[in-house]
Amino acid sequence: MIDVPDLDWDRLGGERLADLLRRAPKAELHLHIEGTLEPELMLALARRHGVRLPWASVEQVRAAYAFTSLQSFLDLYYAGAGVLRDAQDFYDLAWAYFKRAAADGVVHAECFFDPQTHTARGVPLAAVFEGLVAAQRRAAAELGLSVQWIPCILRHLSEDEALATLQQLGPWREHFIGLGLDSSEVGHPPAKFQRVFARARAEGLHCVAHAGEEGPPAYIWQALDLLQVQRIDHGVQAVHDAALLQRLARERVPLTVCPLSNVRLCVFADLPSHNLGALLQAGLCVTVNSDDPAYFGGYIADNLVQTVQALRLDARAAWQLLAHSFEAAFLQEQQRARYLAALQQAFSAAAAPG
Ligand code: HPA
Ligand code: ZN
Repeated sequence: MIDVPDLDWDRLGGERLADLLRRAPKAELHLHIEGTLEPELMLALARRHGVRLPWASVEQVRAAYAFTSLQSFLDLYYAGAGVLRDAQDFYDLAWAYFKRAAADGVVHAECFFDPQTHTARGVPLAAVFEGLVAAQRRAAAELGLSVQWIPCILRHLSEDEALATLQQLGPWREHFIGLGLDSSEVGHPPAKFQRVFARARAEGLHCVAHAGEEGPPAYIWQALDLLQVQRIDHGVQAVHDAALLQRLARERVPLTVCPLSNVRLCVFADLPSHNLGALLQAGLCVTVNSDDPAYFGGYIADNLVQTVQALRLDARAAWQLLAHSFEAAFLQEQQRARYLAALQQAFSAAAAPG
């Protein structure tokens, strides 16, 4: 747990706090790179490759983003990813996100991608990694943005397919730090992937899993006990289980919460109904992230500002959300301390008189 600094907190409210949230250094820990595909780039890549899409204009693409559930989103999301064909496409996609993230104060990003979405279409992992790693290098050099990659297993596919994917990732091991689990949650419990995550842990990978987005608290218990994950992606359904909340708080298992995603996918009716404030109150290491920002109407700063305003969180709570992002990141301790010092500096400067 990171100490709250000694500041004139009363000076930080309203527009001053919103501005600070937009500028302050932060880590983004729940971001699917395929979910940063803006309609403009989607249409440009479709033209580049002669791919037929059901939409002819940016307006038509955006009009299709009226989701009713996780699955209604995933159907469209996998269709959109169909325009990603070669290394240049993955480079363009990732570089566009890195520029956008840096403008939001992101200094460290741990980004997901879905290898199976691409290999199933005949796109080799070599092309995926070539593009992603080139953009990652440019982000470090030109934006001072550190990026790490976390491939995710598609849980609607079989465990054997997941094991084969982990095997295929072997030659690129130096380019990723962990393994995640995403896609259609209900009906595909973490228990299905126990052997995959045991192997990943044996290979020294950090393990994370989407759990408790739409699925029950039992899926979060499974992710902790059977997959032994270090973070839970989403995890908002934990509020329905007091013993689980206590465990998450006691063990400081971070939740990578994505408020605008949850509203767009109808997990909550609106932002003021979101339970992020309750999770913070329960003492959890809650972070705010953007998930699939091109589809859900906001990048990380939009998520932070809108959530803090809708839930009427104070500046101390806002500080915690950002400090948690560094606490929860897979960082060397020295680097973590440097980022936290920069965060404290930003808050101190904003709270200073004048
Ligand atoms: N949940 C599950 N799978 C996903 C998501 C999500 O929020 N975004 C991209 N793939
Ligand atoms: Zn996600």
